[in-house]
Amino acid sequence: MRRSIFLTLLFLSLSASSQPPMSSEAGTQSLPLSLTGVAGDPAKGRAIVVERQKGLCLLCHSGPFPEERFQGDLAPSLAGTGSRMSEGEIRLRMVDSTKVNEKTIMPPYYKTEGLERVAANYKAKTLLSAQEIEDVIAFLVTLKDDTQK
Ligand code: HEC
Repeated sequence: MRRSIFLTLLFLSLSASSQPPMSSEAGTQSLPLSLTGVAGDPAKGRAIVVERQKGLCLLCHSGPFPEERFQGDLAPSLAGTGSRMSEGEIRLRMVDSTKVNEKTIMPPYYKTEGLERVAANYKAKTLLSAQEIEDVIAFLVTLKDDTQK
């Protein structure tokens, strides 16, 4: 009897310690729900991707943007994103790429947590707004052909 209690406790402690911290978050590779509930506008999304002030995507990425002379080579081409990834997977990448790859150099474009101590002016300022994120996603899902440069 004692022995089985001991074994039960041992089993419980072993299984507890084998749980990774934040196990509910680990394995979340997708954010299927829209941030706004309003469909994104692919044309606006494209404009955000190529412009150099806010999105800065082309600092690192290239893609099917023949009019853009300077494109990055620090990251995979955005061509074909829509055939490689689901909308939810793209959304998670955009919101906070560190959830997919802890060491990524890609900035978190819509990270709101961990900003409690910033000055009031900067509170809840994200790199892109929720609707801008949805616009970018709406554009990226249209990129089906990864042979385009
Ligand atoms: C500072 C560099 C940098 C910037 C700026 C950047 N990214 Fe990335 N991105 C990366 C890297 C590097 C990867 C490769 C995966 C990784 O590191 O986790 C990546 C991966 C991705 C992926 C997944 C691609 C795939 O096929 O796996 C998407 C989609 C993406 N980025 C979109 C964007 C968009 C849209 C923007 C602009 C709003 C952007 N990125 C800005 C560096 C960047």
